[in-house]
Amino acid sequence: MAERMSLHRNGNYPLHLGLIAAVLLLLFSATGVRSSQVLVPRRVDAVLGKDVTLGCRVQVESNLSLTQSSWERKLGGSTLTVAVFNPQFGISVAREFQQRLAFLSPSARDATISLRHVGLSDAGVYVCKVATFPLGNAQASLTLHVMVEPKVFVSAGAGPLLDGGNDTLVATCTAERARPPAQVVWESGLSGRSEVRVEEEPNGTTTTQVRYTWQPDRHAQGHALTCVVTHPALQKDFRIPYLINVQAAPDIVLEGYHGNWFVGQENAQLQCRAEANPPPRHFTWTR
Ligand SMILES: *[C@@H]1O[C@H](CO)[C@@H](O)[C@H](O)[C@H]1NC(C)=O
Ligand SMILES: *[C@@H]1O[C@H](CO)[C@@H](O)[C@H](O)[C@H]1NC(C)=O
Ligand SMILES: *[C@@H]1O[C@H](CO)[C@@H](O)[C@H](O)[C@H]1NC(C)=O
Repeated sequence: MAERMSLHRNGNYPLHLGLIAAVLLLLFSATGVRSSQVLVPRRVDAVLGKDVTLGCRVQVESNLSLTQSSWERKLGGSTLTVAVFNPQFGISVAREFQQRLAFLSPSARDATISLRHVGLSDAGVYVCKVATFPLGNAQASLTLHVMVEPKVFVSAGAGPLLDGGNDTLVATCTAERARPPAQVVWESGLSGRSEVRVEEEPNGTTTTQVRYTWQPDRHAQGHALTCVVTHPALQKDFRIPYLINVQAAPDIVLEGYHGNWFVGQENAQLQCRAEANPPPRHFTWTR
């Protein structure tokens, strides 16, 4: 009410100021943060299977009295009363929510509820409604979004990484059934490339797979790639290292002869060193 009156007074101000005020007022009311004496957040994000709090603060002037506060849920075109708090008669919760819903500290100023074990079907619009005497009703609505944490795993490519070989799938990082979709990247100092595949499920969850392919090079032996998964339902990013193992044919070095052997020399030695992965097991000398 107060805001509407101040807008009218803006009629004397230059046009652009009036416009700014109108835009601000639009933003303010469009966010739904404040509707008369009922204050709720515009949006609440819950995580599947966890608990969530739907806040509703009531600002009642001292000359008004609260007769009742309640929560309703919009479902398609219809409305379901989810819970009612009446200072005189007590609390009533709809049968569908009886096991999971509670008022946190019901009073004339607070109609906050908590919902346990949030499911995908709990997502939607909820309205906190307050009836006061003598001014009548006020309400504000919020949208509950339900996020789903991804299941994250890394799997190795089908074949071995062979030194000098063609482009080969090194590993795939998967963030399974997330809502909203997870962000998945491979961190690597190598010159491979990432390829993203996204698959949406009918229930709104998304599986994201990132394949990392690379031309194997023995010099990268022991190098680690890291898959990083970011998701709003996660407290911190998943970081999964993947150690590169390049199979390499032996690199052979023969040592000990410098063109200076002579007849009758003792302790003449030749050394054969071979670097390979896996390490060589059999050495054969031929002449
Ligand atoms: C309540 O009191 C405020 C001032 O404290 C006054 O402006 C308002 O008109 C009163 N409302 C009613 C319904 O009496
Ligand atoms: C290497 O792989 C690419 C595709 O990944 C293919 O087009 C190319 O023919 C391959 N080269 C060899 C030598 O196998
Ligand atoms: C979403 O659907 C997929 C299959 O389409 C199912 O495996 C998954 O469990 C569902 N997720 C939830 C949270 O219901």
